[in-house]
Amino acid sequence: MYLGLDLGTSGLKAILIDNDQAVVAEATAPLSVSRPQDGWSEQSPADWIAAAEAAIGALPAEGRAAIRGIGLSGQMHGATLLDTADDVLRPCILWNDTRAHAEAAMLDADPRFRAITGNTVFPGFTAPKLLWVKAHESQVFARVAKVLLPKDYLRLWLTGEHVAEMSDAAGTGWLDTGRRLWAEELLATTFLPPEAMPRLVEGSEVSAQVRPEIAARFGFGRNVVVAGGAGDNAAAAIGVGVVSSGQAFVSLGTSGVLFAANDGYRPDPATAVHTFCHALPDRWHQMGVILAATDALNWYARLAGAEVATLTGALGALEPPGKTRFLPYLGGERTPLNDAAIRGAFVGLEHATDREAATRAVLEGVTFAIRDCRDALAATGTRIDRLVAVGGGSRSDYWLSAIATALATPVSVPVAGDFGGAFGAARLAIMAVTGAGAGIATPPATARTFEPQTRLIAAFDDGFARYRAAQSAIAGLT
Ligand code: XUL
Repeated sequence: MYLGLDLGTSGLKAILIDNDQAVVAEATAPLSVSRPQDGWSEQSPADWIAAAEAAIGALPAEGRAAIRGIGLSGQMHGATLLDTADDVLRPCILWNDTRAHAEAAMLDADPRFRAITGNTVFPGFTAPKLLWVKAHESQVFARVAKVLLPKDYLRLWLTGEHVAEMSDAAGTGWLDTGRRLWAEELLATTFLPPEAMPRLVEGSEVSAQVRPEIAARFGFGRNVVVAGGAGDNAAAAIGVGVVSSGQAFVSLGTSGVLFAANDGYRPDPATAVHTFCHALPDRWHQMGVILAATDALNWYARLAGAEVATLTGALGALEPPGKTRFLPYLGGERTPLNDAAIRGAFVGLEHATDREAATRAVLEGVTFAIRDCRDALAATGTRIDRLVAVGGGSRSDYWLSAIATALATPVSVPVAGDFGGAFGAARLAIMAVTGAGAGIATPPATARTFEPQTRLIAAFDDGFARYRAAQSAIAGLT
């Protein structure tokens, strides 16, 4: 048996799979985000541990006793700051927190960051957050002994060791992404010694062993190991078998991600495309990231006073985009804009804009933001011919049909089951324990494929042009 833990933004998921990768049990525990100021987004690491305890505890005892390995997946980029006793110094500053935009711009202006990391330094990345803490909470900064990514804090709890792996480390702004090691020069620029960083392993390697206290508490056997694991997107890629050039997926979670695997390292930081290590040795990936996908739909559902399923369920067959445009920049945007200050908008409201029209506009807005990412990836030479859809948003047929049509690319959904980060993490645990390679990360069977609706492609092209026009019009308004 293998356990995958995915520390998401809105919840932690635990999944137990057997030696044949069949899902035996799963459990989730909710998490919430605190937003003390505009642009801020924080979580308490103690809540992650409580969620992990609840989710692991909810799995069947006989399954827990048979676990041989654990894999970790999680929201990327968060700054979990620890003192010399491994006590948490302040709430974790999350991936979608944009307070460090000035610090990010400053680091990004230093050519060494793009040259060594292969990426734009975005405000959500870890390095600028540390500069923000130094400037605004100098007493906290003075006590920082270790900086961990969120899932690696779970590892510390499970094993007592400070370890990170390549895919998540690539999102810090401190990794030499091509050579897969910490760049001491960049750490020094943010006033951190190399010892502040955890040891690095590959995602499919063993990182450490579970502590006896934890094993006793959850009824694990002896010698359970924890694999390196992966950032949530690389883990989801392992889950849906996106491991080689030419394979890609779209994730509709709190964030929206267009992810393409690469056999080589092909950075292009000027495009605001992310180029990160994959969770397997000698592999990399590129992705475009938008900060609000289901996050935007959930926001709108709260505003409309209705459940998301009620709103999307009321939509019939795919329609041409109407006059109303929605721009999903509720907390700024990453790819392709890299703009922490931009905020969302409804544009082109009219008397005929009813609840359904506004719901369609929200789904279309996120769809067009993903098309923007597709175009940014294409500018780096990465072509996407088909997509697998994962994440909560992939439950909406309307949305998948809109994405297929707007990108003129077939979108398939896997058969019922969970092929997200937790499943990918459990697969990485199998690799770490048995030495199996990428070959075990097979794509799931396809349940349905959404083909582009040819008769609507021109209307979606037109809708995208109007989305881009609205984007230019609102830039600088906030
Ligand atoms: C990726 C990113 C998000 C988080 C959310 O760069 O910021 O996808 O990992 O979970």
